[in-house]
Amino acid sequence: MENKKFYITTPIYYVNAKPHIGHAYTTIAADVLARFYRQQLGKENVFFLTGTDEHGAKIQKKAEEAGKSPQEFVDEISSEFKKLWAKDKLNIEYDNFIRTTDGTHIKAVQRVLQTLKDKGAIYKGEYEGLYCVGCEQFKNEDDLVNGKCPDHGTAPDLMKEESYMLKMTEIQAELLEKIEKEEFKVTPEKYKNKIVSFLKNQTLHDVSISRKNVSWGIPLPFDESHTTYVWVDAFLNYLTGLGWDGDENNLPEMWPVDINLIGKDILRVHATIWPAILIHLGIKLPKIIFTHGHILSDGKKMSKTLGNTISIDEMLEKFGTDGTRYLLLSAGPFGEDIDVTMERMVEKYNADLANGLGNLISRVIKLAEGYEFENKNEYDPLIWNKGFIEAFWMDKALERISDHLIRKSNKYITDNKPWELKKTDEAKFKEVMQKLISDLYLVSELFIPFMPETSEKIKKALETKKLDEVLFQRIK
Ligand code: MSP
Repeated sequence: MENKKFYITTPIYYVNAKPHIGHAYTTIAADVLARFYRQQLGKENVFFLTGTDEHGAKIQKKAEEAGKSPQEFVDEISSEFKKLWAKDKLNIEYDNFIRTTDGTHIKAVQRVLQTLKDKGAIYKGEYEGLYCVGCEQFKNEDDLVNGKCPDHGTAPDLMKEESYMLKMTEIQAELLEKIEKEEFKVTPEKYKNKIVSFLKNQTLHDVSISRKNVSWGIPLPFDESHTTYVWVDAFLNYLTGLGWDGDENNLPEMWPVDINLIGKDILRVHATIWPAILIHLGIKLPKIIFTHGHILSDGKKMSKTLGNTISIDEMLEKFGTDGTRYLLLSAGPFGEDIDVTMERMVEKYNADLANGLGNLISRVIKLAEGYEFENKNEYDPLIWNKGFIEAFWMDKALERISDHLIRKSNKYITDNKPWELKKTDEAKFKEVMQKLISDLYLVSELFIPFMPETSEKIKKALETKKLDEVLFQRIK
C-alpha cells in the first residue's frame, strides 16, 4: 500500500455491557497497525478512531433493566471502554474516541438523512420481517438455525411497522462491481467470496432505516416520530469521528478510510448498508474492510453459561499490559477464529516472554555492565515488519521476532558462553556481546507497535546497562 496517510477504525462498541476480550482483541490489533503506520508515515499522517455505539433498542432495554436513564447508563459503560483503553490497562493510543450521543455526531447524522431524503434515496414505506434485537439486524429465514439467531440463541421478533426505507436494489450492481474490482476491498479473500456470492444470488431488499417505537435514537429530521436505525447512525461515526459535519461536498482530509477493521459478525452490514449510504451520497468508499475471526475458548464461543469466559481484567492482572497485547495477537492467525485457554496463554507467556525475552535481557545487561557498546544493528525495523503488517499477519510478525531474534540470541549465549570469554578472550567477548546488543536494539524497535512500554524499557536498559526490574516475571 503506497500511502501518504493512514486512517484506521475499529467498530464502535455497543454499550449494553462492559467491554470483553473480543472488543480488546479488535482494538489492540488496530492499535498495533496505527502505531506501525505512525512509525512509517509520521504521527500527523495517521488517524486511529474508536468509540462507542450508544443508541438503539438493545441499549434502551438494558438501561431500563438497570433502572437508569439511557444517558446515565451509556455514560457509565462508555467510560468503562475508555478506562480499558487507557495507558495503565491496554495502552491504546487512539486519536479520537467517538460517542454516537455526541451532539456534533447527532447533528451530522440528521444532515445526512435529510440529504438522502432530498436525493430520493429514502422513501416512506412499511417493513415486515424478522428482527434480532441482539444483533440489531433484520434476519432472513436462512440466517437462522432452528428458527433462532445463531449468535444470540434467541428467536427474532416479527416486526411490522411503518418505516422509512433506504434504496438498496438500485445500487446493487455498482456495489458488486466495486467489490469485484477491489475498489472496495473486502478481505481476507474468503469473506470477499462470501459477499460476492451473496450479491450475485440475492436481490438486496431496501433497508428499513427508522423506528417508530424506539425512543432512544436520533430523530429523523423530516419526521420526528421516527428515530434513526442504529446501524445507519453508527456507520456515520467513521466520518463524524474525523470532525465531519455532514456536508458530502466537504470531506475531511483523512477520508477515505484505509482500513475498517471489523469482526466477522458484522461483515454483511459493513459490505452492504455502509457502502450503500456512501454511494447514495457520492462519497468515496473505504479502501479496505478487513474482517477478523472470533476468539473462542476451548473450541466454543465464550459464554457465561458455559463458564469458559476469560475476562480481560484477569488477563491484565496476570500478564500485564504488554503481556496481554502479545498473547492476544499471537494466539492464532489474524483473520481466522482463534482458540484461547488460560493454560496455553500461561505456557506461552513463560516460554516467549519470561524465559525468552525477559531472560535474554537480564543475561545480556548483566554481562554488558561496565562496557560500552553501540547500536550496530543494520536491519531497518520498518522493512522487517512491513510485509507482515501489510498482510495483517501480526501473529507471524511476533513469531518471527521470537524465533529469529530472541530464541536465537539465547542459544547464541549458551553456545558462546560469554561469561567465560570475559575471562579468557576479551576481544571475542566484545564481539559476541556486540552482536547480542545490536540484535536487542532491533528487538526493541520491532516491538514498538506491539509492546510499546517493553520496547522502551529494553532500549533504556541497553543504553544505561541497567535493568531495575524483572521484565515478565515467570508465572507458576
Ligand atoms: N456496534 C456494533 C458495531 C458498529 S460499527 C459501525 C457492534 N458492536 S459490538 O460491541 O457488538 O461488537 C463489535 C466488535 O467487537 C465485533 O465486530 C468484533 O470486532 C468484536 N468482537 C465481539 N466479540 C468478539 C469475539 N468473541 N472475538 C473477537 N472479536 C469480537 O457490533
